[in-house]
Amino acid sequence: MPNFQVTPWEVSGRVDYDKLVEQFGTQKISPELAARLEKLAGESHVMLRRKIFFSHRDLDLVLEDYEIGKGFFLYTGRAPSLGMHIGHLVPFMFTSWLQRRFGVNVYIEITDDEKFMRNQRYTQEQVERWSRENILDILAVGFDPDRTFVFQDTEYIGNMYPLATRVAKHLTFSAVKDTFGLTASSNIGIVFYPALQIVPTMFERKRCLIPAGIDQDPYWRLQRDMAEGLGFLKAAQIHSKFLPSLTGPEGKMSSSKPESAIYLQDDEYTVRKKIMKYAFSGGQPTVDLQRKLGGNPDVDVAFQWLYYFFEPDDQRIKQLEEDYRAGRMLSGEMKQILVEKLVEFLKEHSQKRRAAEQEVDRFKREGKLASRMWETIHR
Ligand code: TYM
Repeated sequence: MPNFQVTPWEVSGRVDYDKLVEQFGTQKISPELAARLEKLAGESHVMLRRKIFFSHRDLDLVLEDYEIGKGFFLYTGRAPSLGMHIGHLVPFMFTSWLQRRFGVNVYIEITDDEKFMRNQRYTQEQVERWSRENILDILAVGFDPDRTFVFQDTEYIGNMYPLATRVAKHLTFSAVKDTFGLTASSNIGIVFYPALQIVPTMFERKRCLIPAGIDQDPYWRLQRDMAEGLGFLKAAQIHSKFLPSLTGPEGKMSSSKPESAIYLQDDEYTVRKKIMKYAFSGGQPTVDLQRKLGGNPDVDVAFQWLYYFFEPDDQRIKQLEEDYRAGRMLSGEMKQILVEKLVEFLKEHSQKRRAAEQEVDRFKREGKLASRMWETIHR
């Protein structure tokens, strides 16, 4: 048994991503495939260069479809919660880039139903409020209003239901139970819910590409077992690693542990305090030892966050890594660099979020995407 665990609801232990690829039966993104994607995109992306997006299924087929003019569409989502943290932005940032570079449609599912049914404590009013708030954070990342549809399950269910019933008819209780570890005391909403996460992969006849953390993979395995039987294509995925928790290289950043995460609404004082106090250090216990022995950037959370995307300049990140390893740089200095980047990032984010308030209605209408979607969902 591996000493880590990755499920759609929990990530624990130090994730061995190579093992996970084997365990989940996905494929690593080869340097050739990454190069092909970047060539078609006409630009490189930091999360691809640094293997933050590291694994896939059928990405090669997606690119082939694009090359021969069939095209593809993107789908991703979010189970709303009190505050989104910076880790949650990873798939949305990458989705936004793909949309910009390939000019394709994006569907964003807000699973207010999933969130409500999974947790006894949450009320529908809370989840409704979080949905509205989270949508603003997602839109702040930057999507094309003419090519993006954001929908909440409880609002859009009427349109999804015909297709959901067809999907559900192909899912057995035992497959869902085994895939998600359900028990006889799981509520029946959660047993049905996977059908609703699968439905958007079938919003168009084209191939669907899903950028998401690899924790969501179990849903796609079920989708791929049944899609062709329903006359749709198997969904393709591009999987990301998890932005590590502030408190150390184990597990992932979690919304329910405030000290493990930087929230998109944290102010400058809180960011500074959290990073300085909690960010797990790969440095030595004293300055003298650090100068003599050097630090370990592989576990230093401040360095890791810079590496994920906060410092996209490859020369600069290499320099930071070398200086830290050689003891020319102290943990406090690395943290300081991260704090500056984070504060700037969050300032910009909150401006874009305010601008999104004016635009949200445009994204919640199907607009130009409607006719194509309706062909598949009401067939
Ligand atoms: P949720 O709300 O748990 O997570 C939303 C997205 O964020 C990713 N993620 C992370 N990525 C990098 N670093 C982290 N620390 C981190 N934590 C979370 C997740 O992998 C996910 O991509 N059931 C889904 C909602 C959903 C969905 C989808 C997600 C519905 N349809 C389609 C992806 C694609 C959920 O609970 O996501």
